[in-house]
Amino acid sequence: MTRRKPEDLRSHRWFGNNDMRSFGHHSRASQMGYSRADYLGKPIIAIINTWSDINACHSHFRQRADEVKRGVLQAGGFPLEMPAIALAEVFQKPTTMLYRNLLAMETEELLRSYPVDGAVLMGGCDKTTPALLMGALSMNLPAIFMPAGPMLSGHWRDQKLGSGSDVWKYWAEKRAGNLTDAQWGEIEDGIARSPGHCMTMGTASTMTSAAEAMGFTLPGAASIPAADSRHARMATDTGRRIVDMVWEDLKPRDLVTAASVDNAVTAVLALGGSTNSIVHMVALARRAGVALTIDRFDALARKTPLVANLRPAGKYLMEDFFYAGGLRALLNDIGDLLELSARTVNGKTLGENIASAEVFDRDVILPRDKALVASDSLAVLRGNLAPDGAVIKPAAAEARLLKHIGHAVVFADYNDMAARIDDPALPVTADSVLVLKHAGPQGAPGMPEWGQLPIPKKLLAAGVRDMVRISDARMSGTSYGACVLHVAPESFVGGPLAFVQDGDLIELDVPARKLELKVSAAELARRRASWKPPEMHYTRGFGALYQRHITQADQGCDFDFLEGIAPTAEPEIH
Ligand code: FES
Repeated sequence: MTRRKPEDLRSHRWFGNNDMRSFGHHSRASQMGYSRADYLGKPIIAIINTWSDINACHSHFRQRADEVKRGVLQAGGFPLEMPAIALAEVFQKPTTMLYRNLLAMETEELLRSYPVDGAVLMGGCDKTTPALLMGALSMNLPAIFMPAGPMLSGHWRDQKLGSGSDVWKYWAEKRAGNLTDAQWGEIEDGIARSPGHCMTMGTASTMTSAAEAMGFTLPGAASIPAADSRHARMATDTGRRIVDMVWEDLKPRDLVTAASVDNAVTAVLALGGSTNSIVHMVALARRAGVALTIDRFDALARKTPLVANLRPAGKYLMEDFFYAGGLRALLNDIGDLLELSARTVNGKTLGENIASAEVFDRDVILPRDKALVASDSLAVLRGNLAPDGAVIKPAAAEARLLKHIGHAVVFADYNDMAARIDDPALPVTADSVLVLKHAGPQGAPGMPEWGQLPIPKKLLAAGVRDMVRISDARMSGTSYGACVLHVAPESFVGGPLAFVQDGDLIELDVPARKLELKVSAAELARRRASWKPPEMHYTRGFGALYQRHITQADQGCDFDFLEGIAPTAEPEIH
């Protein structure tokens, strides 16, 4: 392998000349207390830090950034911490999905506009992982991902609590009068008890694991709990490694190939990962020039067993998964389904990185013949209601609903649904199909996690726990039910979902991968002709940019002008 020389470094353009501009760069470095010996001729490493006072999942990132810096310095690099927006999943409204592409743009432009040779990407809370990777892929400078790590298991009395999943569970108990306010307060205090991201197999654990399977982290990094001292040591190792990656010129698009994307998707399926990963993986693969489609998820799901016994699909939490051997052990178990020659950030192949990993607890990482789901943990549906596709998690649905025909009960938008869903007069039965419009990328806007429509109270009282629900929304990775999600094109832009009316018959046939509106083509054409496009939600600001350029769910919800690998000019230094 040829190693680059100091004058090959990108930062050399800022610092390597003896002109007036480099005078400015040197004098301002001096102003910060650095001498030339600190940085000249060394790889300058941007630490893109999504720390913020508002992001609880990243509350350890100030300390971790120092630990990364220590590694960069030890390896002979020069670290510069650069803050980026935090995308705090729980606090940011209307949804962090509205801002994923903003963080991706910020990452790319920070790396482009400053004297940076390589980057450590610090993220973990839901959208931060795909956003950082998307930006780094577009800039294509050497980059390594440092995952936040899951928080410790939640606890309440003798029960373990999982982020999200147990909130739905205990909220139902509270609504049923089985929990007091004081008990609810105890749960509130015990469910999130350390730094780190949600510790169920929600979007955060799914995407950090996908990043590792794709080769973007040091081996084993994604499974280490945030509070474990091994996490701090991983941060320093990450800082050390990025310096060599710069000398070796090992770049994100060397790692993200059709094979490594398949590895990531297979890992997601074996983990029982969040459906949100479909949108994120499609977007980031396309930033690497890999034409990933949603149908690839369906194809890989047909041969991938769900072997991680983790909530919401299973029983355990990420801390248990780490003690059981973590992602490396799981991947080693399904090695025959992976492309083991894929390269990773440490310069070794995925196969080399997982070869020695062992499973220490067979109830957490299940043997393949005892998989939670043998295959089809995700399915992609098509039909006249979703010409560009829709998604369902069959394993999360009651089996009787996987082949179902029912009459539609239609909600025009989220507010309409919230106002009427518990109305005793709502003409709904257990066999009805609940339909929510205007919940997609443009319609909501931001494609929020509204896809798990609540079961109407009167049906809950009658013992109904699942129904077919259809929307152009996403669903939280910790949710459950026969929820058809990501319907494309969405209703707001005139997708067929816009034309569904109360009482229409809808057929869901998951084994046949079919989603059909039982209305004649002539009647659909008539409804389409009288449809008026709704007004845009935003007329100015980032929202307006978002609505003009966001792509549909099957395309990854990227901005159309950010897709692909067309080169972007380097900044002039003058
Ligand atoms: Fe940050 Fe769940 S709130 S990952």
